[in-house]
Amino acid sequence: MTPTDIASLLDDRPADGIFRIERRAFQDPDVFDLEMRHVFEANWVFLGLDSQAPKPHDYITTWLGRAPVLVSRGADGQLRCFINSCRHKRSTLAHLPSGNARVHTCRYHGWVFDSSGANKLIKSREEGAYSESFEHSDRDLEPIAKFENYRGMLFGSLNPDAPSLDSYLGDAKAVLDLVLDQSPQGIELIPGVVRYTFEANWKFQLENCSDSYHFTSTHPSFLRLAEQRARSAKETGDIKTVWHNNKPWESAEARLGTFSFEHGHSLLWSSQVNVDTHPLFGQLPELTERVGQVRAKWILSTRNFTIFPSLQIAENAASQIRVMRPLSATRTEMITYCFAPIDEKPEARAQRIRQYEDFFNPSGLATPDDTVIYEDCQQGYAAPTPRWQLGYMRGIAATSDRSNSYARELDIDPVASVDGPVNLYDETLMHTTYRAWHRQLVQGAQHDGALREKDAA
Ligand code: FES
Ligand SMILES: [Fe+2]
Repeated sequence: MTPTDIASLLDDRPADGIFRIERRAFQDPDVFDLEMRHVFEANWVFLGLDSQAPKPHDYITTWLGRAPVLVSRGADGQLRCFINSCRHKRSTLAHLPSGNARVHTCRYHGWVFDSSGANKLIKSREEGAYSESFEHSDRDLEPIAKFENYRGMLFGSLNPDAPSLDSYLGDAKAVLDLVLDQSPQGIELIPGVVRYTFEANWKFQLENCSDSYHFTSTHPSFLRLAEQRARSAKETGDIKTVWHNNKPWESAEARLGTFSFEHGHSLLWSSQVNVDTHPLFGQLPELTERVGQVRAKWILSTRNFTIFPSLQIAENAASQIRVMRPLSATRTEMITYCFAPIDEKPEARAQRIRQYEDFFNPSGLATPDDTVIYEDCQQGYAAPTPRWQLGYMRGIAATSDRSNSYARELDIDPVASVDGPVNLYDETLMHTTYRAWHRQLVQGAQHDGALREKDAA
């Protein structure tokens, strides 16, 4: 695809109330290749939590675009991040998702690297008749270009020219703070990562996190279960309120809103709080004392949050961190975890895990609904016409530039804010995401074209 083809994937005309994406964006291998190189490998990408590797020599493995990476805590206690690939012939070095290892030994020819990435041993080195230049070459694991820690959340980038993590996150940091302030010690992952794949483009998952419109039509089995529980709880008097409770939000009715941030990040929030079954509700007095009434209210709100391109933090029926790993234009791997405040009370933790099982995972009542729909959409996009779809138009007339009164409560200035009744089901928060995506793809395609011309000259 030429830079002109790439530019034509988005039809963005705010003055005419039009925002459309071309169907090829979800299918074309050229688009996927550009996404890998100019989105996933050029931006900051979430790698994990520092609480996943608390002790010296602890490590986790993950992916940064197409690159396997190893996050390892050295003997000195410092976390570092390397390309998870041996310097000899590039074999992947660490194979488990996490572990503790003073050294990593390559299973091909046996080179050894310590937990700080230093090459410590080359098998049969003395007999190897190596050249002088080999002896002076850098044989240590290759550090990634940038690696930073935001309050225990680890991000990396393969792009030496990436802006600072602080400026990349921008005002979206305020939403991360709502996640991280749930206990004085921050958050941790509950053991038990779940990985699954679906045969569809990664952007269906990207969109779905922010898509409140699908909930009632895609997840009827979950809703029926919630209603049934509500009925029986009412009969037994176990639970006083189950859905649509205005506490601790003081508004007269539940609201739904969105904030769009720079660099493609987005937040969908709702003031619907199921206070009696929220695992944090028992801690509300302490929470309010620590963070104040307004922030406590926001922490208890229902939120679906995306840090572009690959991190989603869902705090709705339960609390989930999920990472998207695109494998091809039509295949995606999801890496998902339940997370919880550190030092949570055992009853609240048990409740959180039960709620998580209800809704998430391939065995839950919601995740399979969504992944089947992504595959349905992928099939629908295979039809050669129509060129555009109408999936980004709800809420356009309700969008206010920059902040609104809800944003001001959090002291943030998003690029756009929407506030409305719960069934407004705003779709406009994908605009900031696709504008960032489009800008990076167009610039990337132009950059590649300029390089090709230079090579040909
Ligand atoms: S590839 Fe690792 S030692 Fe040869
Ligand atoms: Fe869903």
